[in-house]
Amino acid sequence: MSYLLHIDSSALGEASVSRQVAQSFLEGWDGEVVHRDLAAAPVPHISEAGITARVTDPAQHTDEQASAAALQDELIEEFLGARAYLFAVPMYNLSMPSVFKAWLDQIMVFGRTFRPSPAAGRPAVLISARGGSYAPGAPNHGLDYVVPTTETVLGHEGQLASM
Ligand SMILES: Cc1cc2nc3c(=O)[nH]c(=O)nc-3n(C[C@H](O)[C@H](O)[C@H](O)COP(=O)(O)O)c2cc1C
Repeated sequence: MSYLLHIDSSALGEASVSRQVAQSFLEGWDGEVVHRDLAAAPVPHISEAGITARVTDPAQHTDEQASAAALQDELIEEFLGARAYLFAVPMYNLSMPSVFKAWLDQIMVFGRTFRPSPAAGRPAVLISARGGSYAPGAPNHGLDYVVPTTETVLGHEGQLASM
């Protein structure tokens, strides 16, 4: 466990602000980096085979389940193998780019990456970029679903309070 896992998700290539800020962060990082560019190489959306593979004895996997499970294993091992994280995640339509959500859906597996959460406590940097303001007083305040504050989470009549 010795590397920084750097995830990019902006579709804008070199023009991307979040990518540029991530690069400037990396200039100060002295250590191994594993880079996954989800825009250049998107991971597939979680599928029926991928979900059912999680609750099926591997010896009983269909070819489709085995293939889906192998991808999850690769992504999870890469995630858990890191000692620190750098996520560059712009705001797209108030939330994260779908390529980043697809990656999250692949790696968030009960009993492997959460409950228990082996990565809990590891340092993580989240770099986000957006066109508008979501600060207190702005018309869109409370609608930031990329970097929600406690106030945002609790601001929707408690609907998200259990997150
Ligand atoms: C598909 C798309 C959706 C966007 N949605 C929002 C949005 O909901 N709110 C916002 O403030 N900016 C939005 N923006 C603006 C981007 O967040 C902004 O351009 C940001 O710099 C993108 O990050 P990047 O430069 O790293 O690609 C959107 C941009 C794109 C391309």
